[in-house]
Amino acid sequence: MLQKVPKIAIICYSKTGHSRNLAERLALMLDIDVFDLHTKRYGMPFFGFLRAGFDSVQGKLPPLQHPLPDIAGYDAAIICGPVWTSYPATPLINYMQEETRLPAALGLVLTHSDPKRPDDAFAKAEQIVGRPFVAVEAVLDKEVFLPDVEGRLAAFAEDMRLASQGALNMSGW
Ligand SMILES: Cc1cc2nc3c(=O)[nH]c(=O)nc-3n(C[C@H](O)[C@H](O)[C@H](O)COP(=O)(O)O)c2cc1C
Repeated sequence: MLQKVPKIAIICYSKTGHSRNLAERLALMLDIDVFDLHTKRYGMPFFGFLRAGFDSVQGKLPPLQHPLPDIAGYDAAIICGPVWTSYPATPLINYMQEETRLPAALGLVLTHSDPKRPDDAFAKAEQIVGRPFVAVEAVLDKEVFLPDVEGRLAAFAEDMRLASQGALNMSGW
């Protein structure tokens, strides 16, 4: 009998490209597509960064461009994006709050510049989605292009592959 292949989505918000780079590499490893989140709110040069910081501190969420990625029928999803003021970037928070179709098996990849592991951001994300992530990874800006990250991404991808297979099996296939 043919085994059904689990479907995994990567949903990425990236302002300056670090998260997008990781999302693309994971997509290659897993042979899947990247869905980008867009907002016009942080597009302006310089002012966009200020706004991002202010919004993040104040918990003001930016409108996301609709329609959101169509992830209905996916067995697993990876959310990927930056840490802003210790928490997931506001477009990620908005996405996790707005998207009602998130699959059971969720992974989270965060990029950050502070050498301290972004535990508050992981905790905040977990609180929003209401369940633990099946795999998490945090990558420093300066690590993004180092060879070591390839191994960590591969391990993350493998965890997601197993979790998505588990989710598919649970769904009755
Ligand atoms: C408004 C703003 C706030 C940030 N706050 C933090 C922070 O609290 N901790 C941290 O480690 N990095 C912080 N950063 C750095 C980003 O997380 C980091 O550069 C990340 O790789 C950017 O991802 P991107 O290139 O995908 O947009 C912040 C960046 C911005 C623009």
